[in-house]
Amino acid sequence: MKHVLSSHQFTREKLEEIFDLAEKIKQNPKEYEHKLDDKMIAIMFYEPSTRTRLSFETAAQKLGAKIITTENAGEFSSAAKGETIEDTVKVISGYADAMVIRHKSDTSAEQAASVNKIPILNGGAGKGEHPTQALLDLFTIREKFGKIDGTRVAILGDLLYGRTIHSLLKLLSLYENIEVYGLSKEAFALPQKYIDMLKERNIEYKKCTSFEELPKDINVIYHTRIQAERFEGDFGKEEFIIDKKVLDTFSDNTILMHPLPRVIEIAVDVDDDPRAYYFKQAHNGLYIRMALLLDVFDRV
Ligand code: CP
Repeated sequence: MKHVLSSHQFTREKLEEIFDLAEKIKQNPKEYEHKLDDKMIAIMFYEPSTRTRLSFETAAQKLGAKIITTENAGEFSSAAKGETIEDTVKVISGYADAMVIRHKSDTSAEQAASVNKIPILNGGAGKGEHPTQALLDLFTIREKFGKIDGTRVAILGDLLYGRTIHSLLKLLSLYENIEVYGLSKEAFALPQKYIDMLKERNIEYKKCTSFEELPKDINVIYHTRIQAERFEGDFGKEEFIIDKKVLDTFSDNTILMHPLPRVIEIAVDVDDDPRAYYFKQAHNGLYIRMALLLDVFDRV
């Protein structure tokens, strides 16, 4: 049974296969519109989402699948009465052929997959992983630069709780000559285990304290929102805000990415700049999730 649980499960070859398929779907979506006509996909989101839930729902339906869905599953599913994730999957597997789950628990996707009844796709698990986001992030980088090897990336914002950052670093580390720069408030610094993981793969992590320390011709600036829902207390607001003035200190070839939603970390005056890639990035999520759904059902 194929699941999509963690960035760790992907080899470089598998990533390229998924990216090639996503590219083909993007070029010619009509060719794929009946591939999953016989499938039902359950979309169980226990945490808020705009992009991941709606793009998975769109992806499934554009492939011909039907969906059953519950937004705010923590309140409107029987989780509110104490049902476990495992029991929920045992029940849903009688209705649906695959399930996409977002949950506040870091281990939620693994718990769902442990039942081993239907493919599980991780739509975001606590502060742990968001693998489908990382795939669409890398797909966007490959689309822009034609390759991922040699990419120099600055990660900004919430490096501590930002699951999109954690999944992205795991995937980037599969490639050659990657450079990673980190710029965040100290309270949201990248956990040592990710620095160690990068080091094991010969990637030096360069911790920075100002925009000036980032290379001006860096390929990707990847900003993230402070995940205020994941901690108690007040650590203040984002300090490293990118507006037009800041962006203009970087190269014309630098792209600005963000998994969205943004709060204050990217000013809206940047949105019309050709280097602003975050809405293109979100749109690419549709093709990556279509490709992943085809892959779990071996309908490539
Ligand atoms: N990037 C992302 O996961 O967005 P949503 O929370 O809207 O799904």
